[in-house]
Amino acid sequence: MAISTGSKVIRTAVFISGTGSNLKSLIKFSKLKISPISINLIVSNNTKSKGLKYANIFKIKKKIFTFKNKTDEKKILVELKKNKIDLICLAGFMKILSKTFIKNFKGRILNIHPSLLPKFKGLNTHERAINKKEKYSGCTVHFVNSKLDSGKIILQKKVKIKKSDTPKTLAKRILSQEHRLYPKAILKVFNL
Ligand code: GAR
Repeated sequence: MAISTGSKVIRTAVFISGTGSNLKSLIKFSKLKISPISINLIVSNNTKSKGLKYANIFKIKKKIFTFKNKTDEKKILVELKKNKIDLICLAGFMKILSKTFIKNFKGRILNIHPSLLPKFKGLNTHERAINKKEKYSGCTVHFVNSKLDSGKIILQKKVKIKKSDTPKTLAKRILSQEHRLYPKAILKVFNL
C-alpha cells in the first residue's frame, strides 16, 4: 500500500466543496516536520466553499472548476500537471470524479468518508447510522477507485453513537476524529 517518497516532499492538491475543516487540519499537518506532504493547490467545484478562505489565509493557490463536463476535468488535469501535483486528497469534495480522471491519478487519490466503510457509502451517513440503530459509526480514509467509496481502506476510527445523538451531534464528534485520522492515514500511506 505504501507509496515511496524517496526524500522529496509530495506536492498535494486538496479538493473541497464546503467548510474545509479537513483542509485546515491537512494544512496544519503539512507544516509539521514529520509531514511528507506540502499543500500546493486547493481545488473546489463551488465558488461559495467556505474552505476557500484557507487559500488566502495560508497563501495557497486556489482553482475553481464546475466539474460539470469532461472539458473541466481536462483543464484540472492540466492545472495539476502545471503545479507538479503528485497526490490528491479529497476532503469533503461532493463531486464524483470520472473513471478517466481517476485513471490519470491511479493510486494517488485519497478520500475521507464519514462512516465506517463499507457501511453507509454515499450521503446522509450519520442519519442512516442512527436510523439503523448502529452502536458505532466513525470515519474512513481510503484510496479512490472508480466505484463510489469503495477503494482500499487505509485507516478507520470508530466513534460510539449515543442514545441522545442527532445526525448533527454525531457529525460533529466524527468530524473532530476526521481531523486526526487524515494525517495519520497519510503517514501510513507513505510508510512513516
Ligand atoms: C466531512 O465530514 C467529510 O468526511 C464529508 O464531508 C465533510 C466535510 O467537512 N465528506 C463526504 O461526505 C464525502 N462523501 P469539511 O468541509 O469541514 O472538511
